[in-house]
Amino acid sequence: MSPLLLGIESSCDETAAAVVEGDRHVRSNIVSTQHELHVEYAGVVPEIASRAHLERIGPVIETALREAGVALSDIDGVAVGHEPGLIGSLLVGVSAAKALAWSIDRPLLAVNHVLAHLHSPALDTEPITFPAIGLVVSGGHTSLYHLDDALSVRELGRTIDDAVGEAYDKAAVLLGLGWPGGPALDRLAGEGDEQAVDLPVSMLDRESLDFSYSGLKTALLYAVRGHPTGRGAAAAFPRRTEDLTDDRRRDLAASFQRAAVTSIVRKIERALSTHEVSSLLVGGGVSANSRLRRDLESFCRDRDLQLRLPAPHYCMDNAAMIAGLGAVQLEAGQVADLTLSASARST
Ligand code: KG4
Ligand code: ZN
Repeated sequence: MSPLLLGIESSCDETAAAVVEGDRHVRSNIVSTQHELHVEYAGVVPEIASRAHLERIGPVIETALREAGVALSDIDGVAVGHEPGLIGSLLVGVSAAKALAWSIDRPLLAVNHVLAHLHSPALDTEPITFPAIGLVVSGGHTSLYHLDDALSVRELGRTIDDAVGEAYDKAAVLLGLGWPGGPALDRLAGEGDEQAVDLPVSMLDRESLDFSYSGLKTALLYAVRGHPTGRGAAAAFPRRTEDLTDDRRRDLAASFQRAAVTSIVRKIERALSTHEVSSLLVGGGVSANSRLRRDLESFCRDRDLQLRLPAPHYCMDNAAMIAGLGAVQLEAGQVADLTLSASARST
């Protein structure tokens, strides 16, 4: 019988719990998002996030167990996302997981949140074929990896400034689309002319597999509000977001999306020129992006490469991916103990 794992995720602003059988069969997947608590700040406020996790984590875990039709005593291991993320948020999940694992005397599994995103394409479907290139694109991460298997992972590149999801969210605020506006910008981009505005596709130097989004963000700022007089906090812009016409807003969204997605696809192409792999794994909130999914589909079809995109509900932060990778770790004997702590960065 495959082990039954309880997964717990609280690294940012989603409180989540899931029950997964083996490493892929999801029995329940509960996500309580806090967007409504952070929307007025147009960003996640760490103190508000950790307090909300505390209030929600108990009921979310109870719901995950109930929907899976199991009791806590049926659980064979407790997996928790312990890094990277907001430290106060992570600590809530880690403390809950340690207490539960101790109370039922079952193994505790310490799961890296970013690597768990790369396991999300396997949920509810076929196992992944390795070796693979992995791309994690979310509000907090934009990184490329080489994977010999789910647990043997080497980072090839990462963003040197903003994450792509963060750039989408800031661009969406600038275009008057609200927060977190990645999905709204994606929808609007479909209605615009992507060649209308010449926004930069960041490639950094020839060899680099790192990403950069600050130049694109600034170029969009100037395209929306004009070039400022003065600097820093004293900068005065000739135009406001409210001055945008609907046509211009659509064209800017489409042009931003073209630049953001093109740089990702070109980096993958660059990574593949030096790494022979069977699959391309994609995870993180931005893997829900329609243009990215479409471009990667044709890219992989042309190269006979297996493209593994997560189902839409496993793109965002969730605990099923934590439990799934936790099961792989359990099988490999990589078990944590009650000294486990959280870490803001990947260790
Ligand atoms: O993985 P996730 O739920 O949380 C983090 O670990 O960050 O990703 C959330 C991010 C947000 O920045 C959100 O705007 C972005 O994913 N996102 C999208 C789309 N759907 C979600 N960005 C672009 N296009 C989308 N369709
Ligand atoms: Zn994430």
